[in-house]
Amino acid sequence: MKSTTPILILAAALAASPAVIAKSVKAEAKLETKSDSGVTGEVAFVKSNGKTKMTVHVYGLTPGTHAIHLHEKGDCSAPDAASAGGHWNPSAENHGKWGHSPFHHGDIGNLVADDKGHAMLTFESDVWTIGDGKPSDIVGHAVIVHAKEDDFTTQPTGNAGGRVACGVIQKK
Ligand code: CU
Ligand code: ZN
Repeated sequence: MKSTTPILILAAALAASPAVIAKSVKAEAKLETKSDSGVTGEVAFVKSNGKTKMTVHVYGLTPGTHAIHLHEKGDCSAPDAASAGGHWNPSAENHGKWGHSPFHHGDIGNLVADDKGHAMLTFESDVWTIGDGKPSDIVGHAVIVHAKEDDFTTQPTGNAGGRVACGVIQKK
């Protein structure tokens, strides 16, 4: 009966795997000031039950409406964050409004800053994944907050203006 031990170990591993898949997976991005804006912030991502929830806090904004997107490159090194490239767009669609085809995977939309310059946003996606290496994986892309509002129409940027904050998405 020497062969039973490996079989039992395999059975235990198979039994454990659904629990591992069902566990929540997390990522985060720390928003750093760009274009001398003084804007900072934090973004948290949690994936569970097939949905990825994003929670955003931004500080130091001018009061009013500002675009927020995921951009292609996880590179915030340029002073104006141009290094982050265009909108993250693995499905090769036009820019638009989330949930209304066509739209980029990175087209989150807008957030609104209060008179203290603070904006909070929660957002849920059923197409984003975290850390699985698939085209839908948000890890390694950048969160960008803009000076202006996304008009959801102008190609390919939504006419959102300069980039006031940038943060690379990292798995936690
Ligand atoms: Cu953008
Ligand atoms: Zn877009």
